[in-house]
Amino acid sequence: MKIISIANVKGGTGKTNTTIGLAKELSKNYKVLVVDNDPQSNITSILLNDIKEFDNTLYDVYLQKNIGFNDCIYEFQENFYIIPNCLNSMTLDLELSSKGNRENILLNKLHTIPNIFDFVIIDNSPFISLQMKNSLIISDLIICPIDNSSSSLQGYNMMMNTLKSLQDDNLISQKNICVLRNRFDKTSKFTKDFNITVQESLKDVLLETIIFNSIKYKEASALHTTIQQHSKEHSKVFTDLTNEVLDKIFI
Ligand SMILES: Nc1ncnc2c1ncn2[C@@H]1O[C@H](COP(=O)(O)OP(=O)(O)O)[C@@H](O)[C@H]1O
Ligand SMILES: [Mg+2]
Repeated sequence: MKIISIANVKGGTGKTNTTIGLAKELSKNYKVLVVDNDPQSNITSILLNDIKEFDNTLYDVYLQKNIGFNDCIYEFQENFYIIPNCLNSMTLDLELSSKGNRENILLNKLHTIPNIFDFVIIDNSPFISLQMKNSLIISDLIICPIDNSSSSLQGYNMMMNTLKSLQDDNLISQKNICVLRNRFDKTSKFTKDFNITVQESLKDVLLETIIFNSIKYKEASALHTTIQQHSKEHSKVFTDLTNEVLDKIFI
């Protein structure tokens, strides 16, 4: 089983969009578990909108000793399963502030993920939180989506600093990291210049695949579906992304 975190300390760069597109693509050949690790619960409301109440969510996994991942797995589609989240998670940092070893809660519960899964993909909030640290610690690969803004690069740097502090605390060793360009447009001079800067400054971690700007991704979310089911043309990019990710993760 391989674990992938999608993270950037900046909102709106496409973390959730990437999680869903990548998970759907991988689910064509593998069993995939998506973990909604964002208290805003966008994955949950986009893909599990039919379910009005959950017995347990990721909030319970963090908070309750006797609840594991296996207690809150919901099937979305064939080979595509989800662990939902809820707004209560907003206060988890505070609720767990006095708990020892709190960055390793998910690590200590990894054994409760059924061994049928090939991939776990974790969608994160844009905040440096206890939840994000838990996610980074258990990941084999971290994908950081950036859009064509300098603040998304700042978000990448802040995430790298968080990783560095986890390393300094001996909570992790070196991590496999890559950066994904999302919401780029093909025509503007600004994006072209931005792209040149990024190609130079991030050349060691930059994925070749670029997800261009399109309203189709918003439409797919509004329709509670995946881009693969909404627009064949716009989902091709996720085949390329998935191939690149498979190369990165199995080296
Ligand atoms: N390539 C894209 N082109 C256009 N809109 C996009 C693209 N990727 C994501 N979006 C839209 O932008 C918004 C933010 O994306 P989202 O994936 O939710 O970002 P994050 O999870 O990083 O906050 C959403 O409405 C989403 O549908
Ligand atoms: Mg999101």
